[in-house]
Amino acid sequence: MGEHKSKIRPAALGAAVLAALLAFAGYTLRASSSMEFCSATCHEMGPQAEELRYSSHALDAQGKPISCAQCHIPPGFGPRYLAVKAYSGIKDLVVHLVQSPDPATMRRAPLQPVARRFVDDANCLACHADLYKDAKGEKTVSDLGRLAHDAYLGKNGQAKSNCAGCHINIAHLPAFDRRLLVNQAFAGRISLKEARR
Ligand code: HEC
Ligand code: HEC
Ligand code: HEC
Repeated sequence: MGEHKSKIRPAALGAAVLAALLAFAGYTLRASSSMEFCSATCHEMGPQAEELRYSSHALDAQGKPISCAQCHIPPGFGPRYLAVKAYSGIKDLVVHLVQSPDPATMRRAPLQPVARRFVDDANCLACHADLYKDAKGEKTVSDLGRLAHDAYLGKNGQAKSNCAGCHINIAHLPAFDRRLLVNQAFAGRISLKEARR
């Protein structure tokens, strides 16, 4: 009996330490993905957060504010989650510390294509499961949307783009994209807000 215990104890202790470490890692990852961390800790994310509030993605179907993580961190807790989290976390931190960019002069055009590649389709599909329905999931998607999504699903050629590559400016709208006709409604809501100030 006595010999048994001494073997089990280190194993149990190891498991407890591992569990504590995992819990701590999980907590840090979640905390650093929160809206408050993204937009308050890093003041340079202010414009992105502000624009989000006037975008089609301000609120989810239940009326709850959509968080940065719901698009920018792959769902689940797998290797891809950790890779993206580590990559974007470290990059943001380095940019934050080394350059400390001023949100007013931050060059956003080069960031857009990078962000589009890293926004995972699974994030979009978590809310838009049926690609043959409109954004509310009520009516059928437009003919153009059906053709494009056929191509995305490989039923009509093969689209080379992911969701974010076709659906640009769905959450953010830097000044240089506001003149585009497709962004008229979004740009209008932002300028209305700016006029009220
Ligand atoms: C509904 C999905 C969605 C949400 C929510 C979202 N983003 Fe984005 N984000 C995108 C997409 C897609 C891009 C790629 C560029 C584009 O098309 O706007 C992007 C690009 C970016 C970029 C780089 C380009 C730019 O416009 O400066 C930053 C930085 C960024 N997001 C930060 C944030 C922060 C901070 C939040 C939360 C306050 C957030 N995002 C919430 C989808 C989202
Ligand atoms: C948390 C849920 C959620 C996520 C994540 C999400 N969406 Fe949406 N999306 C919505 C809601 C809610 C609307 C607004 C529906 C309405 O019209 O009331 C919407 C609207 C849209 C629209 C129509 C309006 C527009 O701006 O063109 C498109 C297209 C769209 N989403 C694509 C995407 C893509 C692509 C992604 C991934 C980058 C994404 N969504 C991520 C919930 C989500
Ligand atoms: C090859 C380009 C392309 C790709 C890839 C693509 N879409 Fe679309 N999507 C479109 C077009 C075009 C429309 C129709 C827009 C319109 O009618 O104004 C559309 C329509 C939609 C709508 C309905 C918007 C509304 O006005 O109600 C949603 C939601 C949507 N897409 C989500 C997605 C999601 C999620 C993905 C990835 C799984 C995706 N799309 C991939 C091109 C694309």
